Amino acid sequence: MFNFDFYNPTRVLFGANRIGDIGKHIPANARVLITYGGGSAKKYGTLDEVQAALGDRVTFEFGGIEVNPHFDTLMKAVEVVKENKIDFLLAVGGGSVVDGTKFIAAAACYEGDIWPLWSKRQPLARALPLGCVMTLPATGSETNHVAVVTHTGLGQKTGYSDPLLFPKFSVLDPTKTYTLPVTQVANGVVDAFIHVIEQYLTYPVYGKVQDRFAEGIMLTLLEEGPKALHDPENYDVRSAITWSATLALNGLIAVGVPQDWATHRIGHQLTALYGIDHAQTLAILLPSLLQVQRDGKRQKLLQYAERVWNIQTGDEDSRIDAAIAKTREFFELMGLKTQLGALGHPKTAIDDILENLQRFDMLPMGEREDIDFDRAKTILTLSY
Ligand code: NZQ
Ligand code: ZN
Repeated sequence: MFNFDFYNPTRVLFGANRIGDIGKHIPANARVLITYGGGSAKKYGTLDEVQAALGDRVTFEFGGIEVNPHFDTLMKAVEVVKENKIDFLLAVGGGSVVDGTKFIAAAACYEGDIWPLWSKRQPLARALPLGCVMTLPATGSETNHVAVVTHTGLGQKTGYSDPLLFPKFSVLDPTKTYTLPVTQVANGVVDAFIHVIEQYLTYPVYGKVQDRFAEGIMLTLLEEGPKALHDPENYDVRSAITWSATLALNGLIAVGVPQDWATHRIGHQLTALYGIDHAQTLAILLPSLLQVQRDGKRQKLLQYAERVWNIQTGDEDSRIDAAIAKTREFFELMGLKTQLGALGHPKTAIDDILENLQRFDMLPMGEREDIDFDRAKTILTLSY
């Protein structure tokens, strides 16, 4: 196992009716900016609950943070923060709102254009504190220090992380997920599953506990994911999915082990260029990436086949093939496509994606940094 630091300061307020407790974790004299997305938080009454829980505090609202949040929109929120001397941010929504709010927290304390710092992943000196009411179990953003923002002017979607961006607290109320459209439930399950894969399907370093945690999260998502599609108000199922998505990307299974993240990095280009949902990009890319990277990932692919898919018979290569096929079937069972062509994009997309990877200096990538231009092209060609 590699050396590691483990640090996760986010308080989780889990369960039904926990929004009422947020007041205990925000200073009584805070000036709060509540951020939200396209309107679901308003429509389903979550914003009213949040306002009630904030009591007499001075509050402002900033809505309209779009899916895959945009730099330009978020900079408008930064102006609101500065004009109104906001000193606490409260994100109400899915990963896009939470990520966008992390960006606002950073940009509000930065003089000048923050994008160069953000895109080069340089550290922050300061950020505003933020809390979160999560309404979509998927990204893990509620308990991590990562934020992904899109700069539409540059065609760049990029992830950033800084320890100052951990939320102070996150409300995870499974009942808040009941109103999700079925596509977003599916996206969330697949995104969380692939977060685990990015940290697990690499090469063995005797990370036994991390492996067992990872396998437990994947098995839970495999069992509960399909139920969540058909039984939207099943509290037990939604609880299992919510907590799985959080544990998949709160740092716990990442420590001490190699990590891949190539599927995500290529996937972000598909979203930046074509607006494809984040999880959908991953479902398209992962099966092909596993095929192309099967030699380097051999030992872990065999472990994955046995422990997650119960594939016990056949020679090594046929067990790996079967595990990749099962993975693809699971994404399709959840209603996602697993080939880019199936979404109607022309084959020239492959060249555009490769150009983006080069333009933003993203190659080589993967746990061994062995995905170069040619390999990325092979992955994309197989994914088409
Ligand atoms: O905008 P509103 O009206 O709120 O509607 C949203 C949006 O249309 C809707 N929604 C959310 N909660 C709802 C709801 N509708 C009904 N009822 C509810 N309870 O769902 C739609 C999708 O929301 P979004 O926040 O975009 O989805 P998700 O949580 O999947 O977040 C995706 C973003 O997170 C980034 C992705 O790249 C993408 O930009 N990621 C962030 C990560 C992180 N911070 O660690 C890691 C991930 O790998 C990912 O990259
Ligand atoms: Zn993801």
